Amino acid sequence: MTEGIPRDIGKALADIDITRPNVARVYDYFVGGKDNFAADREFANKAMDIAPKAPLAAQANRMFLRRVVSYLAGEAGITQFLDIGSGLPTAGNTSEVAHEINPNAHVVYVDNDPVVYTHSKALLADSVTVDIINADIRDPATILTDPAVLRLLDFDRPIGLLLLAVLHHIEDHEDPAWIVARLRDAMPSGSYLAISSFRMPGPELPELRAKTIEGEKLLAQGLGSGRWREEEELRTWFGDWELLPPGFVSLLEWRPPTPEHIERDEVYHSFFGGLARKK
Ligand SMILES: C[S@@+](CC[C@H](N)C(=O)[O-])C[C@H]1O[C@@H](n2cnc3c(N)ncnc32)[C@H](O)[C@@H]1O
Repeated sequence: MTEGIPRDIGKALADIDITRPNVARVYDYFVGGKDNFAADREFANKAMDIAPKAPLAAQANRMFLRRVVSYLAGEAGITQFLDIGSGLPTAGNTSEVAHEINPNAHVVYVDNDPVVYTHSKALLADSVTVDIINADIRDPATILTDPAVLRLLDFDRPIGLLLLAVLHHIEDHEDPAWIVARLRDAMPSGSYLAISSFRMPGPELPELRAKTIEGEKLLAQGLGSGRWREEEELRTWFGDWELLPPGFVSLLEWRPPTPEHIERDEVYHSFFGGLARKK
């Protein structure tokens, strides 16, 4: 079935299992994409029984991505991006947003999901400024020495490193702090690091904390991963880089486009993000 196509794509296609839900496709469903299957939709609907606002959380994350990349490609003058855990190329992905501002911006996407890889590779076939590699964030050295990364990114100039909604899929024993530190160390001065991650609601909200723990179990069973961490731990991932205003906050509070009233619901308390600059 995979005869006549490049070996890396053939291997990725062989790895695809549409009978079980997976992170990239469930997220795609929540943000209104079309690259998901029945098992993904079934799991997503089950998750919504516990967390009816889960799609709003995913959409808030996508809007955070858009605001961060617009700022970086515009005001901050960043011309190259490394987007790890990039997800399915749904509308409003990093290269689309960056290219609206700077058509020459270079973007390397990284994802360990075979569907994301094959789909993105097909879409990017003609692009000279954007590429995707099929690699795992748990192996930062492989990412940092990949030929596509070295071809498109110049490590002597600032890079926009995006770790959006991916680190909560890394387990404690896989040491997310170590992973982020390796990536931070490889970035030249003047680079930026954007992180968004599930955040355990504060102790002032015991009911929401209990519900979150239930959601964590559901994700572990259905998708294999999904951790809500204490805010204090998430902040350490920026190391000594300087957090830009408004800091590490609810995604809904990060430079909202309009000063409308922001509802302090579970989405507000459970998903945080920030952007920091290396001195
Ligand atoms: C929730 S999606 C986020 C997509 C995009 N970053 C965004 O914020 O809109 C998480 C993505 O991370 C990818 N992912 C999960 N674990 C990963 C790992 N260990 N290495 C690389 N990618 C991973 C998944 O395949 C999925 O595409």
